[in-house]
Amino acid sequence: MKIALFISGRGSNMDAILASCQAGHIEATPALVVSNKADAKGLLAATAAGIPTAIFDHRDFACREDFDRAILARVQQANIDLIILAGFMRILTPELIKPFQGRMLNIHPSLLPKYPGLNTHQRAIDAKDTIAGATVHFVIEELDAGPAVIQASVDISEQDDAGSLQQKVLEVEHTIYPLAVKWVVEGRVRLQEGKAFLDGEPLPPSGVRIEA
Ligand code: GAR
Repeated sequence: MKIALFISGRGSNMDAILASCQAGHIEATPALVVSNKADAKGLLAATAAGIPTAIFDHRDFACREDFDRAILARVQQANIDLIILAGFMRILTPELIKPFQGRMLNIHPSLLPKYPGLNTHQRAIDAKDTIAGATVHFVIEELDAGPAVIQASVDISEQDDAGSLQQKVLEVEHTIYPLAVKWVVEGRVRLQEGKAFLDGEPLPPSGVRIEA
Protein backbone atom coordinates (compact mmCIF):
# COMPACT_ATOMS: atom_id res chain seq x y z
CA MET A 1 0.00 0.00 0.00
CA LYS A 2 1.23 3.48 -0.84
CA ILE A 3 0.59 6.29 1.61
CA ALA A 4 0.81 10.07 1.29
CA LEU A 5 1.35 12.34 4.27
CA PHE A 6 0.03 15.91 4.22
CA ILE A 7 1.71 18.49 6.46
CA SER A 8 1.79 22.23 7.03
CA GLY A 9 4.56 22.58 9.61
CA ARG A 10 6.70 20.66 12.06
CA GLY A 11 5.60 17.21 10.96
CA SER A 12 6.16 15.33 14.21
CA ASN A 13 3.18 13.06 13.55
CA MET A 14 4.56 12.39 10.09
CA ASP A 15 7.91 11.48 11.72
CA ALA A 16 6.17 9.02 14.07
CA ILE A 17 4.39 7.34 11.15
CA LEU A 18 7.54 7.22 9.01
CA ALA A 19 9.42 5.62 11.92
CA SER A 20 6.69 2.98 12.24
CA CYS A 21 6.96 2.24 8.52
CA GLN A 22 10.72 2.00 8.74
CA ALA A 23 10.49 -0.35 11.73
CA GLY A 24 8.12 -2.58 9.76
CA HIS A 25 5.18 -2.01 12.14
CA ILE A 26 3.21 -0.38 9.33
CA GLU A 27 3.57 -2.33 6.10
CA ALA A 28 3.19 0.57 3.71
CA THR A 29 5.40 2.66 1.48
CA PRO A 30 5.47 6.40 2.17
CA ALA A 31 5.36 7.54 -1.47
CA LEU A 32 4.55 11.26 -1.23
CA VAL A 33 4.63 14.16 1.23
CA VAL A 34 2.39 17.11 0.37
CA SER A 35 2.72 20.52 2.01
CA ASN A 36 0.86 23.77 1.44
CA LYS A 37 3.88 25.63 2.85
CA ALA A 38 7.27 25.68 1.14
CA ASP A 39 8.99 26.29 4.50
CA ALA A 40 7.26 23.50 6.45
CA LYS A 41 9.95 22.02 8.68
CA GLY A 42 8.69 18.50 8.04
CA LEU A 43 9.71 18.73 4.38
CA LEU A 44 13.36 18.46 5.45
CA ALA A 45 12.75 15.13 7.19
CA ALA A 46 10.75 13.86 4.22
CA THR A 47 13.53 14.76 1.80
CA ALA A 48 16.15 13.24 4.10
CA ALA A 49 14.11 10.03 4.09
CA GLY A 50 14.12 10.06 0.27
CA ILE A 51 10.37 10.57 -0.05
CA PRO A 52 9.13 12.68 -2.99
CA THR A 53 7.62 15.97 -1.84
CA ALA A 54 5.11 18.27 -3.50
CA ILE A 55 4.32 21.83 -2.48
CA PHE A 56 0.92 23.29 -3.30
CA ASP A 57 0.69 26.86 -2.05
CA HIS A 58 -3.01 27.52 -1.53
CA ARG A 59 -2.46 31.20 -2.38
CA ASP A 60 -1.67 30.18 -5.98
CA PHE A 61 -5.21 28.87 -6.53
CA ALA A 62 -8.40 30.80 -7.19
CA CYS A 63 -10.53 28.61 -4.93
CA ARG A 64 -10.34 25.63 -2.60
CA GLU A 65 -11.68 23.31 -5.32
CA ASP A 66 -8.85 24.20 -7.74
CA PHE A 67 -6.30 23.60 -4.97
CA ASP A 68 -7.86 20.22 -4.18
CA ARG A 69 -8.05 19.17 -7.85
CA ALA A 70 -4.35 19.92 -8.32
CA ILE A 71 -3.46 17.86 -5.26
CA LEU A 72 -5.77 15.02 -6.36
CA ALA A 73 -3.99 14.82 -9.72
CA ARG A 74 -0.59 14.55 -8.00
CA VAL A 75 -1.82 11.96 -5.52
CA GLN A 76 -3.38 9.87 -8.30
CA GLN A 77 -0.21 10.14 -10.36
CA ALA A 78 1.68 8.61 -7.42
CA ASN A 79 -0.93 5.82 -7.09
CA ILE A 80 -1.62 6.68 -3.47
CA ASP A 81 -3.98 4.35 -1.58
CA LEU A 82 -4.27 6.24 1.71
CA ILE A 83 -3.95 9.95 2.57
CA ILE A 84 -2.80 10.81 6.09
CA LEU A 85 -3.43 14.40 7.17
CA ALA A 86 -0.76 15.13 9.76
CA GLY A 87 -1.14 18.73 10.84
CA PHE A 88 -2.37 19.82 7.39
CA MET A 89 -4.04 23.12 8.17
CA ARG A 90 -6.30 23.52 5.13
CA ILE A 91 -10.00 22.76 4.90
CA LEU A 92 -10.55 20.24 2.11
CA THR A 93 -13.49 20.06 -0.30
CA PRO A 94 -15.40 17.07 -1.72
CA GLU A 95 -13.13 17.29 -4.81
CA LEU A 96 -10.43 15.52 -2.80
CA ILE A 97 -12.47 13.97 0.00
CA LYS A 98 -14.92 12.00 -2.19
CA PRO A 99 -12.32 10.04 -4.23
CA PHE A 100 -10.62 9.14 -0.93
CA GLN A 101 -13.71 8.21 1.06
CA GLY A 102 -12.60 5.67 3.67
CA ARG A 103 -9.00 6.22 2.55
CA MET A 104 -8.20 9.50 4.30
CA LEU A 105 -7.34 9.92 7.99
CA ASN A 106 -6.86 13.02 10.13
CA ILE A 107 -5.62 13.65 13.65
CA HIS A 108 -7.26 16.37 15.68
CA PRO A 109 -5.96 17.64 19.03
CA SER A 110 -9.15 17.26 21.07
CA LEU A 111 -11.56 14.63 22.26
CA LEU A 112 -13.99 15.05 19.37
CA PRO A 113 -16.84 15.92 19.12
CA LYS A 114 -15.53 18.47 21.64
CA TYR A 115 -13.65 21.41 20.15
CA PRO A 116 -13.56 20.96 16.39
CA GLY A 117 -11.58 23.72 14.66
CA LEU A 118 -8.71 25.71 16.14
CA ASN A 119 -7.29 26.59 19.59
CA THR A 120 -8.45 23.32 21.10
CA HIS A 121 -6.08 23.39 24.09
CA GLN A 122 -6.94 26.92 25.19
CA ARG A 123 -10.63 26.15 24.83
CA ALA A 124 -10.28 23.03 27.04
CA ILE A 125 -8.45 25.08 29.70
CA ASP A 126 -10.94 27.96 29.53
CA ALA A 127 -13.78 25.46 29.99
CA LYS A 128 -11.97 24.09 33.12
CA ASP A 129 -11.98 20.60 31.62
CA THR A 130 -10.01 18.01 33.59
CA ILE A 131 -9.16 15.87 30.57
CA ALA A 132 -8.08 16.63 27.02
CA GLY A 133 -6.76 14.43 24.25
CA ALA A 134 -6.57 13.65 20.57
CA THR A 135 -8.70 11.82 18.02
CA VAL A 136 -7.76 9.97 14.84
CA HIS A 137 -10.76 9.88 12.51
CA PHE A 138 -11.80 9.20 8.94
CA VAL A 139 -12.23 12.40 6.94
CA ILE A 140 -15.72 13.20 5.71
CA GLU A 141 -17.02 16.38 4.14
CA GLU A 142 -18.01 17.93 7.48
CA LEU A 143 -14.96 19.38 9.28
CA ASP A 144 -13.55 17.28 12.15
CA ALA A 145 -16.71 15.19 12.19
CA GLY A 146 -15.73 11.84 10.62
CA PRO A 147 -16.05 8.51 12.46
CA ALA A 148 -13.31 8.12 15.08
CA VAL A 149 -10.78 5.28 14.99
CA ILE A 150 -8.85 5.95 18.20
CA GLN A 151 -9.07 8.56 20.91
CA ALA A 152 -6.54 9.01 23.73
CA SER A 153 -7.02 11.21 26.78
CA VAL A 154 -4.54 13.05 29.01
CA ASP A 155 -5.16 14.69 32.40
CA ILE A 156 -5.18 18.48 32.59
CA SER A 157 -3.44 19.69 35.74
CA GLU A 158 -4.01 23.05 37.42
CA GLN A 159 -0.54 24.13 36.27
CA ASP A 160 -1.22 23.43 32.60
CA ASP A 161 -1.41 26.20 30.05
CA ALA A 162 -2.15 25.80 26.34
CA GLY A 163 1.56 25.18 25.61
CA SER A 164 2.12 22.44 28.18
CA LEU A 165 -1.18 20.79 27.33
CA GLN A 166 -0.28 20.79 23.65
CA GLN A 167 2.96 18.96 24.49
CA LYS A 168 1.13 16.33 26.54
CA VAL A 169 -1.45 15.76 23.81
CA LEU A 170 1.22 15.62 21.10
CA GLU A 171 2.91 12.77 22.96
CA VAL A 172 -0.22 10.61 22.80
CA GLU A 173 -0.79 11.64 19.18
CA HIS A 174 2.54 10.01 18.33
CA THR A 175 1.26 6.73 19.78
CA ILE A 176 -2.28 6.62 18.44
CA TYR A 177 -1.69 7.89 14.91
CA PRO A 178 0.79 5.17 13.84
CA LEU A 179 -1.51 2.56 15.43
CA ALA A 180 -4.58 3.82 13.57
CA VAL A 181 -2.65 3.90 10.28
CA LYS A 182 -1.43 0.34 10.93
CA TRP A 183 -5.00 -0.89 11.44
CA VAL A 184 -6.24 0.81 8.27
CA VAL A 185 -3.29 -0.48 6.21
CA GLU A 186 -3.95 -4.02 7.50
CA GLY A 187 -7.62 -3.70 6.57
CA ARG A 188 -8.64 -4.20 10.23
CA VAL A 189 -10.27 -0.77 10.37
CA ARG A 190 -12.72 0.23 7.64
CA LEU A 191 -15.28 2.89 6.95
CA GLN A 192 -18.57 1.31 5.93
CA GLU A 193 -21.84 3.16 5.39
CA GLY A 194 -20.52 6.12 7.36
CA LYS A 195 -19.34 4.08 10.37
CA ALA A 196 -15.90 2.91 11.48
CA PHE A 197 -15.44 -0.82 12.06
CA LEU A 198 -12.57 -2.68 13.77
CA ASP A 199 -12.29 -6.37 12.91
CA GLY A 200 -15.85 -6.28 11.60
CA GLU A 201 -17.31 -4.78 14.80
CA PRO A 202 -18.69 -1.23 14.80
CA LEU A 203 -16.59 1.16 16.89
CA PRO A 204 -18.20 3.43 19.49
CA PRO A 205 -18.38 7.18 18.65
CA SER A 206 -15.03 7.74 20.43
CA GLY A 207 -13.31 4.95 18.47
CA VAL A 208 -11.02 2.77 20.56
CA ARG A 209 -10.59 4.83 23.71
CA ILE A 210 -7.20 4.93 25.46
CA GLU A 211 -7.46 6.53 28.90
CA ALA A 212 -4.73 8.67 30.49
C1 GAR B 1 -0.96 18.22 15.84
O1 GAR B 1 -1.15 18.55 17.19
C2 GAR B 1 -2.27 17.87 15.18
O2 GAR B 1 -3.17 17.23 16.04
C3 GAR B 1 -2.78 19.23 14.82
O3 GAR B 1 -1.65 19.93 14.38
C4 GAR B 1 -0.50 19.45 15.06
C5 GAR B 1 0.56 19.11 14.04
O4 GAR B 1 1.77 18.81 14.64
N1 GAR B 1 -3.76 19.16 13.80
C6 GAR B 1 -4.79 20.01 13.70
O5 GAR B 1 -4.95 20.94 14.46
C7 GAR B 1 -5.73 19.73 12.55
N2 GAR B 1 -6.89 20.53 12.66
P1 GAR B 1 2.92 18.09 13.83
O6 GAR B 1 3.13 18.92 12.56
O7 GAR B 1 4.12 18.14 14.72
O8 GAR B 1 2.47 16.69 13.52
